[in-house]
Amino acid sequence: MNVDKKGSLVVVGTGITVSGQMTLITESLLKTADIVLSVVTQSALINLQMINSNVVCLRHLYEQGKSRALTYQKMTQRIVDEVKAGKKVVAAFYGHPGVFVNPSHEAIKQLKEEGYNAEMLPGISAEDCLVADLGLDPAHYGCQSYEATQFLLRQYTLDPHMMQIIWQIGSIADFTHNKHRTAHPGLTQLRNELLKYFSPEHTIIVYEASTIPIAAPRIEYLELKDLAAVIPKPITTLVIPSKGLPDFDMKSMAELDLTPALFEQKLFG
Ligand SMILES: C[S@@+](CC[C@H](N)C(=O)[O-])C[C@H]1O[C@@H](n2cnc3c(N)ncnc32)[C@H](O)[C@@H]1O
Repeated sequence: MNVDKKGSLVVVGTGITVSGQMTLITESLLKTADIVLSVVTQSALINLQMINSNVVCLRHLYEQGKSRALTYQKMTQRIVDEVKAGKKVVAAFYGHPGVFVNPSHEAIKQLKEEGYNAEMLPGISAEDCLVADLGLDPAHYGCQSYEATQFLLRQYTLDPHMMQIIWQIGSIADFTHNKHRTAHPGLTQLRNELLKYFSPEHTIIVYEASTIPIAAPRIEYLELKDLAAVIPKPITTLVIPSKGLPDFDMKSMAELDLTPALFEQKLFG
């Protein structure tokens, strides 16, 4: 790290709700930044503008039909340029700034390679809200988490004993910014893939954390066979609860000098 270079970057997350989910350290860094570059919703932007008078919104870089990859490159470039101009930059993204966000990681990588101070602070992600709203502890059954398009295009091995979290079901195989999308044929393919592991009647949950503090989240329980009829939004996440814990591995059990009964007793008292 080269501390002689004046410009610096801290990437922060503003949480999922428009206000109230920011950490104290994030708020304090936002106050003292020379410039805040933001990729948050309009309402969250107003909140940021009350904290710092120099907020530049980068959402205009998203354009209908334009490749998201190109937009991410432009966002990264803008962040990097402001730091190289010698400014104390805070880049604010909604949710956790490192969860399914490309320019945050990329800007830090590029700047660090050139000797600048650049770091990320954690924020509250959609997954954090999901655990709270659905009462599903990822530790109980284990958890697998995927981006929907990648899940379909790669040869993943899904473990149905674990909870499954599938992100971005509203933009399967769509690499552009598309606000007006109505057809979601990828959901049929997703349902067919999941049917290899779960029964057609297995419960699935269509989830949208509330973005307004007092509003209720969208939590729809339905059967897997009905997935193709779901109308997802860009913020929709799909949750598939576990089909139950797997059997014990008796070899490991013996090696650790345990029995199933002893294990349960030690774990739950
Ligand atoms: C580009 S990722 C950004 C995730 C964000 N950085 C976070 O920390 O949650 C967008 C995806 O996150 C999930 N997501 C974003 N907002 C959400 C919300 N309000 N409720 C549920 N899932 C959400 C959806 O799967 C959506 O397609």
